[in-house]
Amino acid sequence: MKLPREFLIEDRLEKFRNITTCNLGESGLQNFTLGELITLCNIQIEELFSLSLKDSPNNGSLPLRKEISSLYNSIDPESILITTGTSEALYLFFKTILNNETRVGYFSPAFQALYEIPLLCGASLSPVEILNGKNFESLFKNSDLVILNHPHNPTGISFSPEDWKEIDYWNQKYDRTILFDEHYQFLNYTDFPFQSGMNRKGKIFATGSITKSFGVTGLRIGWIIGDPNILKKIRSYKDYITHTVNPISEYLALQILKKKDQILPAIISRVRNNIETFDFVFKDLKRLESYSKPLGGLVCFPKLKNGITSEFYADELKKNCDIFVLPGLNFEREGYIRVGFGESNENFKNGMFRWIEWEKKNEL
Ligand SMILES: Cc1ncc(COP(=O)(O)O)c(C=O)c1O
Repeated sequence: MKLPREFLIEDRLEKFRNITTCNLGESGLQNFTLGELITLCNIQIEELFSLSLKDSPNNGSLPLRKEISSLYNSIDPESILITTGTSEALYLFFKTILNNETRVGYFSPAFQALYEIPLLCGASLSPVEILNGKNFESLFKNSDLVILNHPHNPTGISFSPEDWKEIDYWNQKYDRTILFDEHYQFLNYTDFPFQSGMNRKGKIFATGSITKSFGVTGLRIGWIIGDPNILKKIRSYKDYITHTVNPISEYLALQILKKKDQILPAIISRVRNNIETFDFVFKDLKRLESYSKPLGGLVCFPKLKNGITSEFYADELKKNCDIFVLPGLNFEREGYIRVGFGESNENFKNGMFRWIEWEKKNEL
């Protein structure tokens, strides 16, 4: 049986995420404890205690699907399937619709699951470079399934209103199936509201999640939205694997979404503070050449100066500054590093001081 290649980011994440003072390697907000979450969401302990540990409904609980539907324009709960992480949604979606005649287009570099699983399904890949601008035409022209990850991981790039016009134009012209991976939909730093791909016309699917944006990665709750007939097939596949999601996670996910308007301002302010700090110190990080300041999500992808290899730089940064970043090589892109903004403001600032001091010594 054909197997996927190893997930390239995982070894380093496992090795460093719990032992680094300044963790910029992960792509999520620093995780909350259960106690913090209970306080944040004002959860009544009695309610938690009376929660039944039976299986959740196979599609996901109706209250959670209703809450998710309210995030979008005119999506009904029948068009939503709850999954164990977005990873499960992506895996089952690809397995359900792809075959060895499908061409899959996506912006590269990319989150590995977005192309590794299509490859496993026998599809052919049509990657389009994102770091030099967004060529939507070639993305749509050469693909049967177009994947748009927005805001984008690992680059932190977001779509502008002009980009959306282009997406609509090429979507109308080519009428492709489009999958929007909107893992970071809650973290938008632009002056205009977040636009979901689900607002477009055509053969549209979207995945979403609360886990990284709200600092609850271990809850493993994600979802997929789209044509109920395809979702029915995905659900049937899911019945053989995880079957249902954990009811405690599902309950907590619902509380988070209900309280999102109260919780998000502090999260957004923390992440923006880190982004501003990074932007301020960037000129002093002498081995970094350029980067694009993110307008959404939790990561950016700075370019290293010529001749510096990403694993070497990431190792030295860990060794000398106790800062963990992911090397671009883990995204199959040498000469870059991925920097996350989910750390506490204090750890982030202290990390930046150490990073600047180390750069000043010019020891590489
Ligand atoms: C763009 C993107 N899609 C999907 C996933 C998978 O998410 P989950 O942890 O919900 O399975 C991630 C996780 O980092 C991601 O960054």
